[in-house]
Amino acid sequence: MRIPLIAGNWKMNKNPAEADAFMTVVADQVPDPDQVETAIAAPAVVLTTMAQNNAPDRLRLAAENCYYEDAGAYTGETSPKTLAEMGMRYVIVGHSERRLYFNETDDLINRKVHAVFRNQMTPIVCCDETMGRRESGEKIHWVVSQVTGALKGVSEQQARQLVIAYEPSWAIGSGTSASADQAEEGCYLIRQTVADLYGDPVADDMRVLYGGSVKPDNIAELMTKRDIDGVLAGGASLDAETFLQLTHYQN
Ligand code: G3H
Repeated sequence: MRIPLIAGNWKMNKNPAEADAFMTVVADQVPDPDQVETAIAAPAVVLTTMAQNNAPDRLRLAAENCYYEDAGAYTGETSPKTLAEMGMRYVIVGHSERRLYFNETDDLINRKVHAVFRNQMTPIVCCDETMGRRESGEKIHWVVSQVTGALKGVSEQQARQLVIAYEPSWAIGSGTSASADQAEEGCYLIRQTVADLYGDPVADDMRVLYGGSVKPDNIAELMTKRDIDGVLAGGASLDAETFLQLTHYQN
């Protein structure tokens, strides 16, 4: 049985005081993680405060990115080892904004996936898809190649724990979510790709999220789909009450 994961991605928003205020509101109200797991990904400088202060045990903390080496002369990078020591459970890897603005390649993303696993955290690997690719029918190749590239050398046991997010670029920050059927189509494709690589039992264990303009009024329908195990919400995760509504999508 796959436990749903409702994750927020703050991107480059919030300072430590704002993060504290958010945590104060959500601390006692997020669901039991055995029923619905919840996570917030925050900028590394903000995570330091969140990890030290009042992050509730039941809300997982996540980093938005990391480097693939644990330490060394890599000015400006964030160590996955340090993130693990700070108590991070998840690290987002290969978000479309990293691919687009920071030229992250499948090879770099694959190295980061290994670094996250090596440090006993779980990667949330993001796959994107542009409208042009969708319309040209190229989406199949594109999603499959991103998943295959990210998972090179990943063991069967690691693949079972993995989280992959399907995030069509045209739905990110646009206010227009993919329809539940379109989102399911992308998430199904990801699960099939993992099934082809590792077999059905692994693909059945692995969780697939949808991201792109998820809001309290569309999450319930998305979550009815067989291959959608949760969401990665950007804008809607910034406000504490709205994030709580997402986490209680069943009500
Ligand atoms: O990581 C989150 C996604 O980029 C979605 O962002 O919910 O603001 O569209 P959004």
